[in-house]
Amino acid sequence: MSSPSEIPAGLADVPVAKSAISIIDGKRALLSYRGIAVEQLAKDSSFEETTWLLLKGDLPTQRQLADFHHELRQRRKVHYKLIEVIKNFPATGHPMDALQCSVSALGMFYPTRSVSDNAANWEASLRLIASLPTLVAAFARLRRGELPLDPHPDLDHAGNFYYMLFGREPSPSVRKVIDACLILHAEHGFNASTFTARVTGSSLANPYATISAAVGSLSGPLHGGANEEVLEMLSEIGTAANAKPWLDAKRAANPSFKVMGMGHRVYKVKDPRATVLQELAERVFAETSRPAKYDVALELEKQCIPIYGAKGVYPNVDFYSGVVYSSLGIETDIFTPIFAVARVAGWLAHWLEQLNGNRIYRPEQVYVGNTDVPYVSLDKRP
Ligand code: MLT
Repeated sequence: MSSPSEIPAGLADVPVAKSAISIIDGKRALLSYRGIAVEQLAKDSSFEETTWLLLKGDLPTQRQLADFHHELRQRRKVHYKLIEVIKNFPATGHPMDALQCSVSALGMFYPTRSVSDNAANWEASLRLIASLPTLVAAFARLRRGELPLDPHPDLDHAGNFYYMLFGREPSPSVRKVIDACLILHAEHGFNASTFTARVTGSSLANPYATISAAVGSLSGPLHGGANEEVLEMLSEIGTAANAKPWLDAKRAANPSFKVMGMGHRVYKVKDPRATVLQELAERVFAETSRPAKYDVALELEKQCIPIYGAKGVYPNVDFYSGVVYSSLGIETDIFTPIFAVARVAGWLAHWLEQLNGNRIYRPEQVYVGNTDVPYVSLDKRP
C-alpha cells in the first residue's frame, strides 16, 4: 500500500495506459500524431486528413479522404429540435457549458445502442466531429440575436466553421490559419480532458456522454480555459511597454506568481504548438493588421524567459492562440469551444483505442480519513 506522500499529485509522470496516438518529447519540443510531426501536419495537411490519421492510424488514400469529406458534410446539420434546445439556453451562459449540454443532447437525437458495434462507433464519431462546429456557431449566433446558419456545402471543415460563425466565407489565408489551429489542437496525449474521455468511455458510456464529459473537463482554466485568461491578462497589461512593470508588480506582490499561458506539465521548453502558432499569427497579421496584444505577448515572453526559463517555464499553446483568434474577430469565450472542435478528434481516437481491450478505470485510494467513529444520535448532538 502506498503512503499519501508517495502519490504524485495530479498523477504526474504516472503511466496509466499504453497508447499509439501521439507522442510528446517535452525536453526537445517534439509532438507527433501517429509518428508525423505536428509542424508538418499544420503546414501540409488539413483538419479532416489529420482527424482521419488520428482515428485510423494512417494517412488516408485520396479516395478515403474524399469519402471522409463527404461523410462529414452529410452530418454537419443537426436536428432542428436541438437548435430549439439551444435557443432556450441563457444568452449569458458560457459557450462551453452550452456546448457540453448540446453534445449530451445530440446523443438523445442520434442514440447509439451499443459501443461494441464498430459501424455505430464510426457513425457516432463522424456525427460528433461534423456537428461540433454547428453547435458552437449556433449558440454564438443565437446569443448575438442572430439566426443560426445552415452549414455551407462547398466549404471544408475550417472554412464552414468560420462561415457558420460570421455568415461570410473566410479568405484563403484566414481559412488556412483556422485549419492549422484545429490541427495543432487536435491531440495531446493524456491531458485532463482526454483522460476524462477515456475514463468515461471505459464504463461503456455512449460516445456523446463521453465527449460531453471531456468538454466539461476542457472548460477549466487550468486546461482549455487558459486561453481566455491569457487574453484577459494581455488586455490588463495594455501595452508592450507596460509588460515589465506589470510583471515586476505582480511578482513583488506574490513571489510565486504564475503567468497565464506559461508553463506546461510536459514541456520544459517552448511548446512546439506555440512556435507554429506564432508563425501563423505573423502571416495572418499581414492581412488583418497586427494587434497590439501580440506585441504585448512578445514583450511579456521576453521578460519572462530570464525569470522562469531556468525552471522550464515557457509559453504553451494558449499563450498565442487567443491573440490569433481575437485578430480574426472571434469572441474571447469562443476560444475554448474552438479547442473542443479540434480536440474532439483526439478524444474520439482515444475513446476507440480505450474500447479496444477495455477495462473500466478503477484506481485505488490511500484512505486518510477517520476510523472507528462512534455514531452519536441526533438528540445527543448540540
Ligand atoms: C493540451 O493540449 O491538452 C494541453 O496542452 C494540456 C496538456 O497537454 O496537459
